Amino acid sequence: MIKELLLGKLKYLSFVVLDIICLLLSNYISYGIYINFVPDNNINYEHTSVVIIMILVDLMVTLFYNSIHLALRRRIRVEIYKSFIHVLLSFCLLTVILFMVKRGSDYSRLIVLLAYVFDFIIICLMRYIWKQSIKEIMKKKKDQKTALLMTTDRFLEEGIEELKKVDVDVERIFLLQGKGQEELYNIMVLNDLNEVGPAICWEMIDRVYIYGLDHQMVPEILKKSCDMMKMKFELVDFNYRVIEIKTIKNDDPRIGALSFLESMRDIPFPIRRAYWITETEASIKRGFHAHKLNCQLLYCPYGKIDIILDDGEKRDTVTLDRPGKGLILMPGLWREMVWLETGSVLCVLASEFYDASEYIRNYDDFIAYNRKYRKGS
Ligand code: TYD
Repeated sequence: MIKELLLGKLKYLSFVVLDIICLLLSNYISYGIYINFVPDNNINYEHTSVVIIMILVDLMVTLFYNSIHLALRRRIRVEIYKSFIHVLLSFCLLTVILFMVKRGSDYSRLIVLLAYVFDFIIICLMRYIWKQSIKEIMKKKKDQKTALLMTTDRFLEEGIEELKKVDVDVERIFLLQGKGQEELYNIMVLNDLNEVGPAICWEMIDRVYIYGLDHQMVPEILKKSCDMMKMKFELVDFNYRVIEIKTIKNDDPRIGALSFLESMRDIPFPIRRAYWITETEASIKRGFHAHKLNCQLLYCPYGKIDIILDDGEKRDTVTLDRPGKGLILMPGLWREMVWLETGSVLCVLASEFYDASEYIRNYDDFIAYNRKYRKGS
């Protein structure tokens, strides 16, 4: 709750204050009903101390249950559910406390019960009105659509540029395996995945873009938060990408060059498997398959190999001819490899463990699979 309070600041606090106002209002109504409509009521009954305990209980429940989580933007059914649990927890906790600190004749159980019933109704209503008002004010202040961009180190700059082209201003960044930076390209970086949902909520970010990552890489917690706020995230995907692998060369060429890659930073997936193909003669062809899930990085540390890529509509060829050239392949892409020089070595870093059932080895099946899952038809 504390983190969300820091992210939401005054907007978050306003919901806490609103909760207390609702509680006071509901007590006022239930007390009025009790005095006016209940026969033989205890007119001298003093309710203020009970209300104070109620407010403290309310704050405790807000603190521990975090009932204001994503409150500004959550769906109506989530709002009703959260408010109901909040009121129920408060009622149970208050009952226990009153049982311990007061005698039965010191307060009216009827008023307390009625107050919580009214509180539930008023909270749902008031939060809805309050949310709409804040949204309207914030909409007027903004002159451009804002976005949260989730990507990797390697694709950050490219992602920001791509979004600029469609007139979207990146307001927050979340990097897979970020290095703890606070700011990049003058944009605030979120380093904790738990902050992503609240930032989208309280900053009223319009869109969520996942750039260059496969759908498997979208964290569950982000999916859940987006679902709570009825927001769709947009996967800005690519089928393949040639990357420059970082390489350190020495002044003395005899010492050679050192190339390196980091999982989830330079390549948009975790590495679960590595394999390499050696002792192959020139003009030999391999591959002839696509993957349903597996993301890969291909590189050729020695020799020359053509990688023919087919997305079902067009064919491209990428030649791997030096250790510093890498080829990222996302799922749903048919590939064929042609060895151009004898002894060329093909190395592969893969996102999945070996699973024969995740391969598509027949071209017609690949076309049918792509039509069904990739093109959304
Ligand atoms: P295959 O995928 O057919 O190679 P290519 O597409 O390059 O021609 O794999 C050859 C064999 O190796 C096949 O029997 C499966 C096995 N294999 C594994 O057991 N684990 C692995 O990680 C890979 C890549 C292949």
